[in-house]
Amino acid sequence: MFCDKMEKSKSINNMGYTTQTKLVNNPMGDKVFQKENYQKENYQRENYQKENYQKVISQIENFENPQNLPINQILKGDSIEELKKIPDKSINLIFADPPYFMQTDGVLKRTDGSNFSGVEDKWDKFENYEEYDNFCESWLKECKRILTDDGTIWVIGSFQNIYRLGYIMQNLEFWILNDVIWSKPNAVPNFSGSRFQNSHETMIWCSKSKKSRFTFNYKTMKKLNNNKQDKSVWDIGICIGNERLKDENGKKIHSTQKPEKLLEKVILSSSKINDVVLDPFFGTGTTGAIAKRYGRNFIGIEREEKYIDFAKIRIENETLEINEFVTGELEIKPPKVEMKKLIEDNFLNVGDKVFNKKKEYIGTITEKGYVFDGEDELSIHKSSAKKLGKQNNNGWNYFYLDDGTLINELRDKWSEKQ
Ligand SMILES: C[S@@+](CC[C@H](N)C(=O)[O-])C[C@H]1O[C@@H](n2cnc3c(N)ncnc32)[C@H](O)[C@@H]1O
Repeated sequence: MFCDKMEKSKSINNMGYTTQTKLVNNPMGDKVFQKENYQKENYQRENYQKENYQKVISQIENFENPQNLPINQILKGDSIEELKKIPDKSINLIFADPPYFMQTDGVLKRTDGSNFSGVEDKWDKFENYEEYDNFCESWLKECKRILTDDGTIWVIGSFQNIYRLGYIMQNLEFWILNDVIWSKPNAVPNFSGSRFQNSHETMIWCSKSKKSRFTFNYKTMKKLNNNKQDKSVWDIGICIGNERLKDENGKKIHSTQKPEKLLEKVILSSSKINDVVLDPFFGTGTTGAIAKRYGRNFIGIEREEKYIDFAKIRIENETLEINEFVTGELEIKPPKVEMKKLIEDNFLNVGDKVFNKKKEYIGTITEKGYVFDGEDELSIHKSSAKKLGKQNNNGWNYFYLDDGTLINELRDKWSEKQ
């Protein structure tokens, strides 16, 4: 048994799926990966300061798991039954990639006449829509119960099922935050040429309720998107090449393995370090691998032993990455301090000249902590908006002092001294 699984582990590595040379040494069946492994295996991250690195590592290592959740484990069994065992309000993020109920029949032929294997798996079969809807309503209800009040859920599907899922989710009073289009530049062609090539899937991202104060790492996603506000259409290739898990004969392990890039965006945008991310249809464990990579905990549920075996090896071989996108430090809000207080505490002086980014002189600081531009005495926000010809603007990120200090940085300096 053990040898058999070691073979699989090698075959994954031989496919080049991971650059790790170390194969799995743990006795198989051990579902918990050890956090110490992080320290032994993965540390260097260019551009990331050592002291921050250590701080983050100890934060991860000291995660207490107060609700005693089965974290970093794959639960073998039926989703609905396993979800029922998870305590109320305990999960921060759910990613669900349920059966599509594709209803494919007959053999699909490529243009060269060879057979194309789509999703024909047993797990995708249902008698009819009623059965499918009842199934989806049951697992979605459980998901709602186990989410924390501020938790969110992503549900992915294609045209065959996404409308049904969206309808059920709204009926269950999930609050839709976005529907994200996963656009596939390398989608499978429509071989018969009988309709448009189906080149996307949809993800519905919802908070537990309208009132939730959910996590959205806006600045992180903006920075990862070349400093532009990220959009709801994501161009990500389908999972191919080295990333695709294959068996000894080069056959795909799973018909619908999701690309890691997709899960990277999901997890980095809507969770925090140490959060618990649950995937009720774990498959090859893409969610678990990415959660581990980015310092989140995961819980996977999957029925098929074969997928679980591969997912375990995949996750054991995964390594932790720490950087500013992972830690959420870009999201830390500057301390709340007013301009007047900065003057009072000598971080700024009345009469100081302020400039824009291009070093053009704009005005001087007044006793009120406003800017006088020779015409008007206005708050930093109104003054900067006036200069930019805009309705509103954040003045903290507009004005610089003579020595090139952005006035926003004065707030950090002020808070360090408190
Ligand atoms: C669309 S696939 C998920 C693929 C996964 N996201 C990945 O990247 O590998 C759906 C998975 O759900 C599993 N599944 C289907 N019905 C299930 C059920 N009732 N309980 C547990 N797992 C189930 C299937 O075995 C399949 O692996």
